[in-house]
Amino acid sequence: MLLLREAFFLHRTKLMSNTGPIGVFDSGYGGLTILSEIRKLLPQYDYCYLGDNARAPYGSRSFEVIYEFTKQAVSALFDQGCSLVILACNTASAKALRTIQQKDLPSWNPNKRVLGVIRPTTEMIGSITKSRHVGILATEGTIQSFSYNLEIAKLFPDIEVTGEACPIWVPLVENCLYENEGADYFIKQNLSNILAKDSLIDTLILGCTHYPILADRIKGFLPEGITVISQGSYVASSLKDYLKRHPEMDANCSKGGSVKYLTTESPQRFTQMAERFLGEAVIAQHFVIA
Ligand code: DGL
Repeated sequence: MLLLREAFFLHRTKLMSNTGPIGVFDSGYGGLTILSEIRKLLPQYDYCYLGDNARAPYGSRSFEVIYEFTKQAVSALFDQGCSLVILACNTASAKALRTIQQKDLPSWNPNKRVLGVIRPTTEMIGSITKSRHVGILATEGTIQSFSYNLEIAKLFPDIEVTGEACPIWVPLVENCLYENEGADYFIKQNLSNILAKDSLIDTLILGCTHYPILADRIKGFLPEGITVISQGSYVASSLKDYLKRHPEMDANCSKGGSVKYLTTESPQRFTQMAERFLGEAVIAQHFVIA
């Protein structure tokens, strides 16, 4: 009996000492749109946000480069004590998630988990579109991967999916150039392209985590009756559900309500931009991804 109690105590101590923040990764500022929704729903957890701003954008890079960068970022977040990492980046989710989950994690660290943002977004789409014609606005990498088409086809084979790559949108956000007529030109052009490809679209998914920062402008240029979907709240509810279904992972996530911001670029710039996007004061630290 005593032995059993000691074993339980040791196990609990081990679990407690292994706790760490939930990692949230993006190529830059976009993942903040996911983090803010996650924190609204799950404020009790600690988070560690990593923005690879020095190497953003990822969107037009090759599979090999995106995979390598994402793997390095995930490894860095594991080193920060995270047991669970959210790829708050569609490009990384489309190009690197499956390989990391299936090939790398089992040998690398079978007790850690990496989740993406595409699946939670596609799961809810069937209940939103009425015309069954959905548009995806995303980076070149995400569009070329056909990840959204494949995931939606698995869940809702009756839905027609049309993609449009918007390669300028992320640089507009990363460089804080999105509030002017030059930006509007590119936004309007991509919107009119996608609606010309399929005029029956009634739902547009912002399939890049940077795009919610442009959401008001996007909505302003669309005809009536088109619903614009930002992913954050869907990713947040999916994470909540995941933690409920995986108490062993939940036990590894520390609960102090803190957020640590790491950036591979200038921390001063990150702080300024993050405060603008999040509407609250943040302190960012410079971080070198090895
Ligand atoms: N936020 C990333 C995404 O969701 C942007 C990728 C990029 O850096 O181009 O795809």
